[in-house]
Amino acid sequence: WQPKDFQHKVIEYYRKHGRKHLPWQGTKDAYRIWLSEIMLQQTQVSTVIPYYENFLQRFPTIVDLAKASEDEVMHLWSGLGYYSRARNLHKAAKKVADEFNGDFPKTQEEIEALPGVGRSTAGAVAAFAFDQSTAILDGNVKRVLARCYGIEGWAGKASVLNSLWQRAEANTPDTHTAQYNQAMMDLGAVVCTRTKPKCDTCPLSDKCYALKHDMISALPGKKPK
Ligand code: ADE
Ligand code: SF4
Repeated sequence: WQPKDFQHKVIEYYRKHGRKHLPWQGTKDAYRIWLSEIMLQQTQVSTVIPYYENFLQRFPTIVDLAKASEDEVMHLWSGLGYYSRARNLHKAAKKVADEFNGDFPKTQEEIEALPGVGRSTAGAVAAFAFDQSTAILDGNVKRVLARCYGIEGWAGKASVLNSLWQRAEANTPDTHTAQYNQAMMDLGAVVCTRTKPKCDTCPLSDKCYALKHDMISALPGKKPK
């Protein structure tokens, strides 16, 4: 794959089949996008939506969230699980209120320095909110790239993770990055699923390494026992 061909196929998929009406897609408010990305880290879309709406009703801005008590934040999060996300969310909101005057930071580095925000989440926020050309690599995208390029081994291993990031960076387009990133998430969630991926409808099937070499169940590699 040349990165240009890959990007073209992925963005074309987005135009035809991508999700375009999720509640956090109609906004350029970095606070709203960040909140959605944190909620979506370990929780599926349909579960997140009511929590997301509730949260924003109670905390319309990041300063409102920063001013809340931890108890209230935990209460609104209750049922979503992985509660360290809520504690970090509150800490990050306070940091933005105190150190950035309530303006959500705009660079990948500053966003990544917020509690609970890793490299991929920072890339997603920078691309979705600020139209920056930043790469993402969540679990879904790892699966697509590992299969498409035959990147073997467990992503918990630094060398494997490096290879995946290299590929993610090389393929990220300079423009339309938000659409591209959303399409990669959608492809992993809807088409290139962990079991029984829908290769017959996949825009990447004609050059997919795993499909060609019958390695779909072997990729991505699992944690060695
Ligand atoms: N999972 C993580 N980020 C997402 C997004 N922006 N849309 C759908 N699912 C996601
Ligand atoms: Fe995944 Fe199949 Fe597409 Fe390959 S062809 S990327 S295995 S859905």
